[in-house]
Amino acid sequence: MKISYFWTSGTIITGRGSLKRIADEAKGLGATRVLIVTDPVLLKTGLIERVKEALAPAGLETGIFSGVEPEPRLQIVTECLKAVKEGGYDLIVAVGGGSSMDVSKAASVLMTNPGTINDYLGVNLIPRPGIPVIAVPTTAGTGSEVTPIAILSDVEEQLKKGVVSPYLLPRVAIVDPELTVTMPPAITAATGMDALTHAVESYISVNATPITDILALEAIRLIALNLRTAVANGQDIEARSNMSMASLLAGIAFANAGVGAVHALAYPLGAQFHVPHGVANAVLLPYVMESNLLGALPRFKTMALAMGEKVEDLSDRLAADKFNEAIKLLAADIRIPLHLRELGVTAESIPGMAEGAAKVTRLLANNPRILSVSDIREIYERAF
Ligand SMILES: [Fe+2]
Repeated sequence: MKISYFWTSGTIITGRGSLKRIADEAKGLGATRVLIVTDPVLLKTGLIERVKEALAPAGLETGIFSGVEPEPRLQIVTECLKAVKEGGYDLIVAVGGGSSMDVSKAASVLMTNPGTINDYLGVNLIPRPGIPVIAVPTTAGTGSEVTPIAILSDVEEQLKKGVVSPYLLPRVAIVDPELTVTMPPAITAATGMDALTHAVESYISVNATPITDILALEAIRLIALNLRTAVANGQDIEARSNMSMASLLAGIAFANAGVGAVHALAYPLGAQFHVPHGVANAVLLPYVMESNLLGALPRFKTMALAMGEKVEDLSDRLAADKFNEAIKLLAADIRIPLHLRELGVTAESIPGMAEGAAKVTRLLANNPRILSVSDIREIYERAF
């Protein structure tokens, strides 16, 4: 057994109504002034009011920063940091999808470390822990509540860049499925496929461990059983609960095992064409898996079984095809586009995107199949 580390958030609170525990957690962290970090869309839904109400028993001063955007630019972290500093806040409550959580995590470490977020792009470059973050996801997909990663867009270079540090792990994650019931079907579908991608990429990662394996497989099983229902009827709290749990488990898995080529190939779609992260992953997943199966055949059979496919008597090779068919059917059922061209991607951009994706070595290093630039170009072409 090789040496491996396992990291996750300090405290993880799950279950319907768990948002109400946030006041105790905020007090427990010794906070006096709390900044809720979110996006303008969520601010209008009334969800932020619910978070404020849940925080009220703690009797803390509360402010709101709602300047988070989808696929946030590096600059948004600077703006958020300014809000934290000006208000003298000592706790950040991140409410939203991956964007709000990633911006919060990045801003929190800049309260105790000099410079801007640009100084810490890369792996393990942050010297000190930041101020505490409580992460409250309102989607079921990104897993950012349990990852040591913040992904930000560099507009000039048209690249997504990552900050990776254990100090980015939230002190507390509160995963309350009731916060996800108002999520529209298209976002439920895209974020759910992001969670599936996390689970699949963790399970076939060359850095998978026995701990990440059980988390990833359970996430795959839960998604196969619940994502369609959550898309069809967002009010189905059982499907929502199972998707929240799946997203959390997949998040814990990939925070430790890493994601691979799907995420690497998705980055240029987000940076150049502003395709939402979940959609980019969802469209690419089947095409990347067709290429990846040779690198992890027995694991593809196990994933097919986790998806509920009847593959017990099949060879690993044929079972792998069944797995790929199952994820394609799931994507089709929940109306994920089949091709990159439906997302506004142009054929001329493919060579440049392949060059860009090939540079995401941090993720490609986890992938079970080694991919050259021309392999990546071929995958994009098949997906086009
Ligand atoms: Fe992701």
